[in-house]
Amino acid sequence: MAQETSRAVGPIVLLGPPGAGKGTQAKRIMEHYGIPQVSTGDLLRENVNLGTELGLAAKAVMARGELVCDDLVCNMVRQRLLQPDTKRGYILDGFPRTAAQAGWLDALLDHELFDNSRPTRAWPIVISLDVDYNQLLLRITGRRSCPTCGRIYNVHFQPPREDERCDLPHGTKLETRNDDRLEVIQPRLTAYQEQTRPVADYYQRTGRLISVNGDLPMDDVTDQICRIIEDHHA
Ligand code: AP5
Repeated sequence: MAQETSRAVGPIVLLGPPGAGKGTQAKRIMEHYGIPQVSTGDLLRENVNLGTELGLAAKAVMARGELVCDDLVCNMVRQRLLQPDTKRGYILDGFPRTAAQAGWLDALLDHELFDNSRPTRAWPIVISLDVDYNQLLLRITGRRSCPTCGRIYNVHFQPPREDERCDLPHGTKLETRNDDRLEVIQPRLTAYQEQTRPVADYYQRTGRLISVNGDLPMDDVTDQICRIIEDHHA
């Protein structure tokens, strides 16, 4: 796919349970439309690795599979969205994840809608990836990622060419995420049901939720998402 670099796109919100394919699809949309992926999970993990104050506060919570508190996450998102690369649009991956975060985002965008400095003054395109429970478990337990470039693999569905090594020339050894351990998966799925499901319901009630079949192969899911984006901007 050729990359687009001129028109405003989104913002786009990708919703879905752990392992639904949010990160995988966000990277593909990013490459296609040339707008950044804003993944709260990646930003938090970066902070944990750097040992920042935010990282220290988030580390144990994430290791238990629970959600980091709204204030910390919203503040982190605000800082990220202020970066100039988000001016033409951005993809929110893993945010909002609670009713409070959804309300905070609406207030932020409402304010932005009256601020003429940004071409992306629009309500977000909210896309939910719906995936069967057993498929989610396979996706989470099979996931491996490259610590050098962030590329995501799966030992069942998208294995690297060489066992446990990234396909790119650096060939870094792939890692399993700390929260992809069996004992942490259930708390993450519970957090999704109890705290994030209501966010999808909120967007559904306000007529903004578009669901896609996330069970399909990756390319088919990408096609569905791109079609939704194109229809939205038609
Ligand atoms: P986060 O990093 O956001 O994790 P998550 O929501 O649990 O989602 P995942 O990253 O597990 O899955 P994904 O949907 O991105 O799937 P992926 O594309 O990798 O959050 C981690 C933690 O940070 C949270 O638990 C919380 O503590 C904290 N946090 C983050 N955001 C927060 C917030 N807003 N508020 C509070 N706390 C927050 O795909 C999974 C696997 O499946 C891969 O191996 C992939 O190759 C494979 N795959 C993908 N699509 C397909 C397909 N179509 N077919 C076959 N395989 C596929």
